[in-house]
Amino acid sequence: MSADITFTMIKPTAFKNNCTGKVLYKINEAGFKVVAMKITRLSKKEAMKFYEVHAGRPFYDELVNFMSSGPIVAAILEKENAVDAYRTLIGATNPAEAAEGTIRKECGTNIGENAVHGSDSDENAVIEASFFFSQIERF
Ligand code: CMP
Repeated sequence: MSADITFTMIKPTAFKNNCTGKVLYKINEAGFKVVAMKITRLSKKEAMKFYEVHAGRPFYDELVNFMSSGPIVAAILEKENAVDAYRTLIGATNPAEAAEGTIRKECGTNIGENAVHGSDSDENAVIEASFFFSQIERF
């Protein structure tokens, strides 16, 4: 298992608000290599599966509806200590609590529409990357 990848999605509101360029710029500036990337749209069923770890939590239905509401950008990022490095770059889950200069501070709307997803562990990074990308889509 690689310890050096993380998985991200630019969420529907951030994509719709033309934040994709800013997010990718910050990712490049921070020294991540983009290994795979695509614009796609999750069905409700796919969003339920991707976020199944949160099933039963009060925000689950809202999260699933939002994440399937429009196009997203999905990407695999590579860097030493990628999971932690990316979580630092994106900031706290709630944009209102995120540090200045972070992606969620600058591009997030609220805790649900918080601009980007980032894997929370090396194990989940591998699972999430494989949810979206096959081996021949990685460079
Ligand atoms: P993400 O990193 O995509 O992982 C799970 C998502 O659930 C999280 O970002 C938030 O967008 C969302 N989330 C977490 N907590 C809450 C909450 N209290 N209310 C609404 N959405 C939440």
